Amino acid sequence: MKITYYGQSAFRIELNDTQLVFDPFISQNPLAKSIDVASIPADFILLSHGHQDHIADAESIARRTKATIVSNYEIVTWYGEKGLNGHPMNHGGKWKFDFGTVKMTNAVHSSVLPDGTYGGNPAGFVLESTAGNFYFAGDTALTLDMKLIPMTSKPLDFAILPIGDNFTMGYEDAVIASDFINCDKIIGCHYDTFGYITIDHEAAKKAFEAKGKELILLEIGKPTNI
Ligand code: NI
Ligand code: MN
Repeated sequence: MKITYYGQSAFRIELNDTQLVFDPFISQNPLAKSIDVASIPADFILLSHGHQDHIADAESIARRTKATIVSNYEIVTWYGEKGLNGHPMNHGGKWKFDFGTVKMTNAVHSSVLPDGTYGGNPAGFVLESTAGNFYFAGDTALTLDMKLIPMTSKPLDFAILPIGDNFTMGYEDAVIASDFINCDKIIGCHYDTFGYITIDHEAAKKAFEAKGKELILLEIGKPTNI
């Protein structure tokens, strides 16, 4: 699997020749100014919730690439009214796509679309595929619901967890989350983009190391094999 970080919670993951884009907030993120959004390939765009810092570039990427938007029913309907393709889901449900299976998981957060439209409930995704399994948590607090993931999904190879605190869990709670999901390889997201979520990278990595776990903070725009 090849993974490219675009800042905040935006990632592109190449999975079995399919390009999955998660929570694209790129053109409005000064930390991602080196990224040309118009050159990002996408077959599917997975959106965890309706907040601007997760969907800002979804429409432009979807229009250009004809990618399918995978999100909750409310968000997919909102994009559908703009003429964009989508696959609606809701919490606890899974669907087998050609690249693998996507299951929508709970997230403890809020969700509203930029024009004030109700954005449904915020979510995360568990992806299972022949190339590996991972969890993209979306914006969430630490929640006991995470314990359901190892009970209901295949073992995770890695997980993408928010670590920036204030709007989501901080890295201390993310260490506990990594226990709940039985995963020792964590990729951090949702940090440093705004003043409220600036973190000490070394302190965050040490908090994971102290529990025998690895926190990976990816460089923006640099593809990494995982
Ligand atoms: Ni949010
Ligand atoms: Mn957010």
